[in-house]
Amino acid sequence: MAYNLLKGKRGIISGALNEESIAWKVALKAHEEGAEIVLTNAPLAMRMGEINKLAETCNAQIIPADATSVEDIENLFSKSTEILGGKIDFVLHSIGMSPNIRKGKEYGDLNYEWFQKTLDISALSFHKMMAVAEKQDAMNEWGSIVALSYIAAQRVFPDYTDMSQAKAVLESIARNYGYRFAKLKNVRVNTISQSPTMTTAGSGVGGFDAFFEYANKMSPLGNASAEDCANYCIMMFSDLTRKVTMQNLMHDGGFSSTGITEDIVEMISPK
Ligand code: NAI
Repeated sequence: MAYNLLKGKRGIISGALNEESIAWKVALKAHEEGAEIVLTNAPLAMRMGEINKLAETCNAQIIPADATSVEDIENLFSKSTEILGGKIDFVLHSIGMSPNIRKGKEYGDLNYEWFQKTLDISALSFHKMMAVAEKQDAMNEWGSIVALSYIAAQRVFPDYTDMSQAKAVLESIARNYGYRFAKLKNVRVNTISQSPTMTTAGSGVGGFDAFFEYANKMSPLGNASAEDCANYCIMMFSDLTRKVTMQNLMHDGGFSSTGITEDIVEMISPK
């Protein structure tokens, strides 16, 4: 059911790779809720072609941008305001990648060039997006910027390796730029800390299935799905959350506040 929560709003949505992607669901819902959007992803991801299908459904244009390139991001924001016919009301940063995870490197044996790549793609890109938006004065007053994070920023999940540091940096950038953008333009900046979700990025993490099941059993409401996450993003983009800023918002079915559950006890008790 749509509520027209984003009627008349213009947004940029990054990170829709395939139907499983959290950003894919956000794009569909943003469109349903009346927003005009531009989609973006790394040029490499475009070649897989699936994003065209989404663009057609959402009546959206696609602007390729490598999130590590300031030049690409400048082009993304200037073209987006041109295509959408005005300043931007909301931005979704839904970008994450660790070459160390992809290549199966253990935490004690990280490749440091790749580590920097992880940080650049998954965290600094968020700063770059906001710095470009500020310099181009591309954001509308009372706009909303959201990035997706994970609880490994606060707690240890061994297989998440250098992405844990990337998420900690990402959340810190949200707080610091959130302060700045609030003062400048009343723009709010938050991260949503999402449950493990079956996507390309998610299932790239070692032992993901066990990880997913464990979180599901440790969350009284069960894991939040990509669709649930999209609903939360829409609420954060809507005018109903104007004074929420500089927060890391837990969207995890209760996982982060739970010590143990009956489901876990049952799982590990001797039969
Ligand atoms: P996904 O694999 O569908 O999305 C990740 C996206 O990042 C892809 O579209 C990919 O093309 C894009 N990307 C990678 N390198 C890029 C670059 N250099 N420039 C521009 N885009 C680039 O997976 P998912 O799960 O939808 O990931 C979205 C966000 O949600 C990520 O930040 C991820 O860390 C976060 N997240 C995911 C969780 C999960 O379990 N799947 C849990 C919590 C957070």
